[in-house]
Amino acid sequence: MNLGVTDLEKNREITVIILGATGDLTIKKLIPSFNKLSKEFRITLVAVSRRDYTLKDYKNYLKTEKVTVNNKIKLFYFQANFRDEDSLQDLKKVLKKTGSDKQERIFYLASSPEFYKGIIKQLGDCCKNINTKLMIEKPFGHDLKSSKKLDMCLKKKFSEENIFRVDHYLGKETVNNILTLRLSNPFLESTWNSKFIEEIKITVSEDYGVEGRMEYYDEAGALKDMVQNHLLQILSFLLMNPPKSTDSASIQKEKVKALKKLRFVSLKKGRYKNYLKELKKETGKKESSTETYVLLQLASKIFKWRGTKIFLETGKNLSKKDARIEIIYKKKPCYLYCDLNTNPNKLVIKIQPKQDIDFHLNTRKHGSSLEIENVKMKFRKGKKFISNTPGAYEVLIRECINNNRTLFITQKELEQSWKLIDLITQKTKDYKVFIY
Ligand code: BG6
Repeated sequence: MNLGVTDLEKNREITVIILGATGDLTIKKLIPSFNKLSKEFRITLVAVSRRDYTLKDYKNYLKTEKVTVNNKIKLFYFQANFRDEDSLQDLKKVLKKTGSDKQERIFYLASSPEFYKGIIKQLGDCCKNINTKLMIEKPFGHDLKSSKKLDMCLKKKFSEENIFRVDHYLGKETVNNILTLRLSNPFLESTWNSKFIEEIKITVSEDYGVEGRMEYYDEAGALKDMVQNHLLQILSFLLMNPPKSTDSASIQKEKVKALKKLRFVSLKKGRYKNYLKELKKETGKKESSTETYVLLQLASKIFKWRGTKIFLETGKNLSKKDARIEIIYKKKPCYLYCDLNTNPNKLVIKIQPKQDIDFHLNTRKHGSSLEIENVKMKFRKGKKFISNTPGAYEVLIRECINNNRTLFITQKELEQSWKLIDLITQKTKDYKVFIY
């Protein structure tokens, strides 16, 4: 089987219009991804932003940000103030100039979310062709109601099969691997239930703070910024029933069911020490009840998960950057060669910075007849392998180009996770945040 890039793909022409071309996402994630993808596709990039730049100015700006668009990519710049209702009218002319009328087009919404609705409306009116797709980043609203409103606005202008809702955690290698790991190893899948599993824990810790995004973050907090999307997405892959087939609709259907059956148990909220100082400096606000850390306990009402404890933990300004999934098995049944001190079996799926998979087992301590020790069986991807692992955005853009929807979230999944988050927000609104 040849999984390499075919000549046909190499010649495929794609035009990508990035709305919000001077933002962090474009600079740090999108441009490096398109540079890599330009080895596979013939890419035209139209960078759209509010700044009154010429193409030369834009290139200079990129230089100051230490990125370049490689010379395989045809680059255009278009200035638009997204606050104006007709700011994208002339984009049509630029698209004509690129000669992309009949090519596949992807609009990448990388602007501040306050402009989403205006942009979507204008794009729908001025710049769609039959091959237009829209990639859109979170936040998809700030609660169930606003998420539905945004969806209505999207659906007025784009059909569902052309909307690709991005959760960049789904492009990460080991998150992507969860279903394969479960379903291609019968010994795992046949013990993948509360009879054997005591606890599921997902941890995403960061060793930096809000970093200049206070305007957005203070409205969101850790629960909406991380749990509503990334952590619940990972959890849905862990709890879902095996899909009927590997097509995206079957997988997404099971994910929705898993999300629907989640039940809130408890929540702890924390906030890092300098948060209020940073908030005041950036926004002038003095008070806030926003959390930068959460430890959330959930339970699943799915019969096979009854009794398994589920913990989701995430926070900023913690001691290290680390993301992992821990599946902790029950100690029982174990009759011989085990005692109270025997450690449980544990499967650890590391998401970042490492992408290892560890399995913790008990063995006879070397040279001793009775003592038992816990050892780690490690699947470690070598350095070479890791450096070849495509970044999450590269994976997702390629999947969008290839029309594979499995790694994108559906509105149904979004609505289920917002329902849960709205309920938790309501129930815990008076909880105090502890300072760390
Ligand atoms: C984003 C959040 O979705 O994910 C950020 O808005 C967070 O607050 C980031 O820092 C984490 O992504 P990663 O890939 O660095 O773990």
